[in-house]
Order: sequence, then structure tokens, then C-alpha cells
Amino acid sequence: MTESNDGQFRIEKIWSYDNHFIDSYLRLFSDCFGVRQGYNSKWFHWFNSEAPFGKNKIYCAIDNDNGKLASAYGLLPLQAVYCGATKSCFLNTNSMTAPEYQRRGLSSQISEYAVANEMSDFILATPNSINTISIKNIKRVLGEPIESLQFLQKTSFQYKIKANRDIVNITADNIHNLQFNDEMWKKYNFHIRKDAQLFKWRYFNNPIFAYKFSAVVKDGAVVAYIVYKMFFDAENNIRKVHLVDFAYMNDDSIFRLIQDAECYALEEKANLVNVWCHGMCENDKNMFESIGYRIADGGNVCFIHPSMNLLERKNWHFVLGDNDVF
Ligand SMILES: CC(C)(COP(=O)(O)OP(=O)(O)OC[C@H]1O[C@@H](n2cnc3c(N)ncnc32)[C@H](O)[C@@H]1OP(=O)(O)O)[C@@H](O)C(=O)NCCC(=O)NCCS
Repeated sequence: MTESNDGQFRIEKIWSYDNHFIDSYLRLFSDCFGVRQGYNSKWFHWFNSEAPFGKNKIYCAIDNDNGKLASAYGLLPLQAVYCGATKSCFLNTNSMTAPEYQRRGLSSQISEYAVANEMSDFILATPNSINTISIKNIKRVLGEPIESLQFLQKTSFQYKIKANRDIVNITADNIHNLQFNDEMWKKYNFHIRKDAQLFKWRYFNNPIFAYKFSAVVKDGAVVAYIVYKMFFDAENNIRKVHLVDFAYMNDDSIFRLIQDAECYALEEKANLVNVWCHGMCENDKNMFESIGYRIADGGNVCFIHPSMNLLERKNWHFVLGDNDVF
């Protein structure tokens, strides 16, 4: 369906993903982000069609002269909990304009159009901070970034013995049998809402990355969990264990899970373990710092639209899961 026609280009929201569209999208993706292993039609379906809160809303600019997909922008539906109330939100995903169409205002136009066209309480974006063009673009639509997201990292691990007492290995098969204790999240006034279905999609169904997901379970309910993956940073020849997700009720249970992840890092001969640090939640930062994690170089910046005043920003738990969105 044509929604906006601007001379040479028309802007469309894509309602169904046929093979022709998927091929064009994957070609645009590799033209913009480089050829990456595994980003194929299986990944496309997983990421764009199978998320629990609905399909990624993909908006495109199409060249009327030759039908070519010139630019694309996505809004992935998620849920957040803000001051106890469930809110709808979108995560901005994969903004891209084919090299031959760049600097003609296409990305700006489709992102403005998409944000105006979709209804939600919040829109989140976490572009890479070195990508100044993209940041300029997002600012136009979502306003000023709220802060930069840094990594906390640890390079020497003291644990030699696995701390796997009471630790449950969560898998695609047992996740639906587990309750997640809500108290883990109640200490935060803003967090992404996660349940077994979201976890299953995000971590176990991911066709590219394999994750380890472990938890401390008490009286049949998860009271702390951690999700991590091994990552080889080929550019710097470094093996990293990324802690991509966590929540906990008390320090003791999360310490045991982190210790378990560090044992895994030792076994896998990783050079470091790191976790995204969300400067707003001092308690979480203090918890990691108390066991040797230190601030490392920044990774991304974070936008939340509409922006909130500083007072409301305390105690956020801004963990989206792994950063495999571009
Ligand atoms: C980032 C990207 C999507 C921008 O797409 P685009 O259609 O060229 O963007 P626009 O034409 O709407 O330009 C938006 C702003 O960025 C500026 N800009 C775009 N490309 C630029 C470049 N190569 N150098 C400097 N400024 C540039 C434009 O001048 C414009 O600012 P202005 O309105 O103040 O003049 C595109 O460059 C791209 O696909 N890059 C590779 C993939 C990527 O990094 N995506 C972002 C992931 S976080």
C-alpha cells in the first residue's frame, strides 16, 4: 500500500514479507552493514515476524523508477513497566539507506513518518555512539539522547571452583515451567517487561547466537537470573563473555550467578567479562563494582522518547537483551 508519494520515492509500511521483499531487505542490510554470517531469511523471520508482542513494523522508501528498496526503518514492539504500569513501547531497529541513495533525506523521512504513524507510550533507540550520522538522524525524530551506555568489565577472574549449587540451567524446554518472581523487577521504576515467552524468542530461538541462561530458583520461582554469551572480537583478537541480561532479588544470588559466568569465562579462556552499565541504576552498578567490575569504554547512546525529567530516571533497569539490533 502506498502511504506517501514524494516524487521519485514512495514511502510504504510493509504488511507482509514475501520472498522478494526479504531478498531486497537482506541485500540492503549487507550493503549497509557489511556481509555478516547468519543474517539470512531464517534470521529475518525470527527477528521481524516472531517476536511475542508483534511484528517489527518495517517502513521503506522505494524508488518509483526501478522499484528498488532504497531505505528501511523498523519499530519493534516491546512492553515496558513504568512506575508499576505496563506501557507499550517500540525499539528502533535497523535504520539503513542503500549507499547510492544516501544523503537525500530518505532515512529522515521514513523515520519521521513511521514514528508519527505508530502509536506507543515510548520509543527506544540505542545506536552505536561512533555512528554520528545515525545519531544526528535519530535526534531529529526522538530528541536528545538521555545518556551514553558504558560497559562495566572485569579482566581477572578469581573463581576457580564452579558455584553451581542451586543454579538451574534454563533451556527452551524448561523455561515455561518456571515462574519468575516479580519482586526482581519491583525495585526499578522503569524496565523492559520480560516473561518466559519473550526470553524464549530472544535467547533460545535466536538463529545466530547461542546463550547460556542460568538462574537461582527458590520455592519454584526464579529469584535471580543471568544470560551470557561468548563473543570473539576479531578486530581486537579478544575473547569476551558478554553478560547480556540479568535481574535479581538479592546480592547473594546474583553473585553466585556472576561467579558461575566467570568460571565459564575461565574455561573458555576469555580475556574479559563485560556487561552494559546503565548509569541510572546506581545499585546495580555498585553491585558489579563491589566484585571488581570497572567502567570501560562507552559503547552506545540511548534515546527514550518522550524524554523524562531527571527525577524519574532513578532506578531504571534498562536491559534490552543482547545488542544485535543495528
Ligand atoms: C545512517 C543512514 C541510515 C542515514 O541515511 P540517509 O538516508 O543517508 O540519511 P538522511 O539523508 O536522512 O540524512 C540525515 C542527516 O544525516 C546527514 N548525513 C547523511 N549521510 C551523511 C554523510 N555520509 N556524511 C555526513 N552527513 C551525512 C545528512 O546531511 C542529514 O543531516 P542534515 O539534514 O542536517 O543535512 C545511512 O547513512 C546508512 O544506512 N548508513 C549505514 C548503516 C548504519 O550505520 N545505520 C545506522 C545504524 S545505528
